[in-house]
Amino acid sequence: MAMLGRKNKIEIKTPQQIELMRKAGLVVATTLAKLKVEAGPGVTTNDLDRIAREELKKAGADSSFLGYYGYPDVICASVNDEVVHGIPNDRVLQDGDILSIDFGAIVQGWHGDAAITIEIGTCSDEVKKLSAVTKSALWAGLAKAVIGNRLSDISHSVEQIVRSAGPYGILEEFVGHGIGSKMHMEPSVPNFGAPGRGPELIAGMALAIEPMVTLGERHVHTLDDNWTVVTDDHSWASHWEHTVALTQEGPWVLTALDGGGQYFAANGIASPAMTRA
Ligand code: MF3
Ligand code: CO
Repeated sequence: MAMLGRKNKIEIKTPQQIELMRKAGLVVATTLAKLKVEAGPGVTTNDLDRIAREELKKAGADSSFLGYYGYPDVICASVNDEVVHGIPNDRVLQDGDILSIDFGAIVQGWHGDAAITIEIGTCSDEVKKLSAVTKSALWAGLAKAVIGNRLSDISHSVEQIVRSAGPYGILEEFVGHGIGSKMHMEPSVPNFGAPGRGPELIAGMALAIEPMVTLGERHVHTLDDNWTVVTDDHSWASHWEHTVALTQEGPWVLTALDGGGQYFAANGIASPAMTRA
């Protein structure tokens, strides 16, 4: 999303509200897993939007995206030099493309929001690495979603992973965000910055962390459709996103099937994912 203002307070969720966000998160996780299986050469992004609509229906969930400032679909599908907010269409995916799919669901008024980058057929090593680096940067950020840290510790960690991996571009005009009773809430969560700044992280916050990384420069523009964000230099881009809840027991990745348990266990980070569904 675009940068927010700084006026409003951060919504603090009750444990019951976090449980509803987990339900929304699992709808997002299972749908994205299904889309990853279905995506491939010969498939169109409209086909994938249709599948996502069916999944929402099966789950009895609503779309976070459909109708959002007039947005026409339930997924964003961004191909190659499109970074985010691509509108599904009849473009046929080709071997070697990269596709970022962003998807959000609402369960009983509570939102989950996540994005993955999918390699279509076989991608170049450079593109595979771009996606892997962006995904690791996301997880490094999620690992900092810990009570007592400051917001910019997340941002800093994301940036560090990207910068240490190569000369990539990190979008600055688009950032992560608070999430809960609305998809986009305070605070903005930039993917860059010095550590130790911004609000202190407390239990009951929920954040969508979403690095957007390019193979070239960081500069982007929006197409005439008023949505699709494309790199100025047409370099390819990757977008990975998860919704994470901050709990007393550690970060809980609401849009990951395993809640982040595997990653946090491997990295020695406490998380309620190990003990909860
Ligand atoms: N999940 C996207 C983000 O946080 C929002 C998509 S905008 C929509 O930037 F209009 F498609 F909903
Ligand atoms: Co988002």
